[in-house]
Amino acid sequence: MDTILLNDSENDLLKAADLIKNGNVVGLPTETVYGLGADSANENAVRAIFTAKGRPADNPLIVHLADFSDAVKYTTSIPELAYKLAERFCPGPLTMVLPKNDRIPMVTSGGLDTVGIRVPSHPVMHRIIELSGCPIAAPSANISGYPSPTTAEHVMRDMQGRVAAVVNGGQSDFGVESTVISFDSDSSVRILRPGAVTQEMLLEVCDNVVIDPAILHEVEEGATVASPGMKYKHYSPKADIIMVESDFESFKSVVDKAYSDGVYTLVFDGDEANCPYRHMSYGSDSLQQAHLLFQRLRELDELGAKKVYVRAPSPEGIGLAVYNRLIRAAGFEVIRI
Ligand code: TXA
Ligand code: MG
Repeated sequence: MDTILLNDSENDLLKAADLIKNGNVVGLPTETVYGLGADSANENAVRAIFTAKGRPADNPLIVHLADFSDAVKYTTSIPELAYKLAERFCPGPLTMVLPKNDRIPMVTSGGLDTVGIRVPSHPVMHRIIELSGCPIAAPSANISGYPSPTTAEHVMRDMQGRVAAVVNGGQSDFGVESTVISFDSDSSVRILRPGAVTQEMLLEVCDNVVIDPAILHEVEEGATVASPGMKYKHYSPKADIIMVESDFESFKSVVDKAYSDGVYTLVFDGDEANCPYRHMSYGSDSLQQAHLLFQRLRELDELGAKKVYVRAPSPEGIGLAVYNRLIRAAGFEVIRI
């Protein structure tokens, strides 16, 4: 299959929408990361997403809608709190897990009786959902396990020959995937995956916001998890990632002992001038770190890095999302000093 690259002209968005309507898989830009989209009701198209990514069949896909008011068409009940959250955060980087109805096939939900609903704010994604007239199932557009793509070029690298088209909508704003939440009660939600909609932001609308322990801790094999994505290895470049939680001086003493061919470092902007090692920088605050992390992990692979020592980000605000992705990329290998 030849993968065509489309741009954000109305004509190309119509082509992308037609491809989706006709059962094809298309790489799509969103404000978080790029997704691999197909008609969520078309079982063969959804299966083709799993095949293109090499994704385990029990890991459910998020369904993207043009407006949260459409969620009633695909769910059996929606708590009042979900509407309040939608009013505040939709469109945007929030996914709400709700009980699904029969219009969402089991392949799409990975065999679960729930579905993650998200209303993306990226104008290109929004327009393609409108033009296609179908809810679009879309996981991140990377090969399963690899860092998520934040540019059309990344998607092309991973998906060339595997999908019908990729739409170039520029670099993703946030750079980390949406916040995924479920509802514990009428006034309480649980964060299953941290993102740009932070715990503090959710607390403006909910009485109680629980951070699922699996966000920061490795789940034991065979344990029951609230979200299937928690059990899989994720976000890992080819290089070995080692997270170092310390000040810059201690970081350097760790790297010093291990420094050899193929060893790289990923540091903060302010460290660069005093970093004697092969290095890349991923910004100076949490928002920049989110924006750049996956891109840097891909670039380090291109440089041929075998081992990367990473200065651990602050886990505050959107930083929790960055920390969560990195600790998984590192296979929970963290040096704390
Ligand atoms: O920002 C995003 O969410 C991006 C863009 C493309 O929208 N999508 C994305 O999808 O990150 P994916 O499939 O790579 O990650 C979805 C995560 C997985 O960890 C999955 O297990 C979880 O959300 N998830 C999806 N549906 C769920 C459900 N019904 N119950 C629990 N977890 C769910
Ligand atoms: Mg993903």
